Amino acid sequence: MSERHAVRAEGLEKRYGDKRALDGFDLTVREGTVHGLLGPNGAGKTTAVRILSTLIRLDGGRAEVAGLDIARQAREVRARIGLTGQYAAVDEVLTGRQNLEMFGRLFHLGGRRARARAVELLEQFDLTDAADRGVGKYSGGMRRRLDLAASMILAPSVLFLDEPTTGLDPRSRGEVWESVRELVASGTTVLLTTQYLEEADKLASRITVIDRGRAIADDTPDGLKNLVGGDRIEVVVADHAEIPRVVKTVARVCKGEPEVEEEALRVHAPVTDRVPALTEVARTLQDEGVAVEDIGLRRPSLDDVFLRLTGHRTSVQPARNAENEKEKKTKEAVAA
Ligand SMILES: Nc1ncnc2c1ncn2[C@@H]1O[C@H](COP(=O)(O)OP(=O)(O)OP(=O)(O)O)[C@@H](O)[C@H]1O
Ligand SMILES: [Mg+2]
Repeated sequence: MSERHAVRAEGLEKRYGDKRALDGFDLTVREGTVHGLLGPNGAGKTTAVRILSTLIRLDGGRAEVAGLDIARQAREVRARIGLTGQYAAVDEVLTGRQNLEMFGRLFHLGGRRARARAVELLEQFDLTDAADRGVGKYSGGMRRRLDLAASMILAPSVLFLDEPTTGLDPRSRGEVWESVRELVASGTTVLLTTQYLEEADKLASRITVIDRGRAIADDTPDGLKNLVGGDRIEVVVADHAEIPRVVKTVARVCKGEPEVEEEALRVHAPVTDRVPALTEVARTLQDEGVAVEDIGLRRPSLDDVFLRLTGHRTSVQPARNAENEKEKKTKEAVAA
């Protein structure tokens, strides 16, 4: 295998009873990049991350991480990776500094080195000012950054981030993105799972779309966005009778053919010059006295990509509680 692949997985299989969580999953991640693993609830993202980080066993296929076989060299793999699970692993009662020192001890650093590493990481993740506050008082973004810092204790060559920003507000999300960019600039390869096309687009140089345990696309962010036609202008009207006038205006201003969703009273079309086009459409409709309920720019979503790739929308699968336990165990397992 080429040294330049941080992850190379072929035909991964994982079954839970008769449920195929992974069903012939392939993945190649180039070294020194952020690779997005994009998929809806239940697609198999967490299962893939758990297998690649050696936390659970695979039922079929093979994979190498950092050039090491995950089945035969699990210990060595663990020494080269970091993991931030889908559910925060930091302790709310401890301060940020105490959390990092605790993880340092878990990774067998010894007291003095654990303390020194905590100071470095607090600085790197912009948490120095909050270092001695209880994590219970941190914002969601700060908590996630602390989580990232905890998985960076040993400066891993490959870092798995499982939905690092789900549930965060836009500002906290931006902070986490910034930290991820810095990690990659310092040489770490990141495999990031997400349900947001926008997030994969912001961070990743390549994206694998996963559905029902299989990779259904592997492309650059631009490639995926082109598949769905990029950004769109969207107009929702109050009354059915207004639709033809909206279609006419949108068709004139936008570059592509407008699509009409009759039931939702919605008209949308692809745009390139986003804001000028939006302004023009809004002004024209106002001049014509069209009653507009809502107007805006919409970025393509995972759902749009899915519709193009599979012909159906993402279907939400029932949540499972057994998996929602805290992921601290996960980190301890990696540390051990
Ligand atoms: N421990 C388990 N026992 C039984 N079924 C499981 C288990 N773990 C995962 N599954 C099933 O495998 C499938 C893939 O789950 P997985 O957690 O990998 O999805 P995911 O893409 O991470 O979803 P989410 O976005 O909700 O986190 C789901 O149908 C899930 O119900
Ligand atoms: Mg998951």
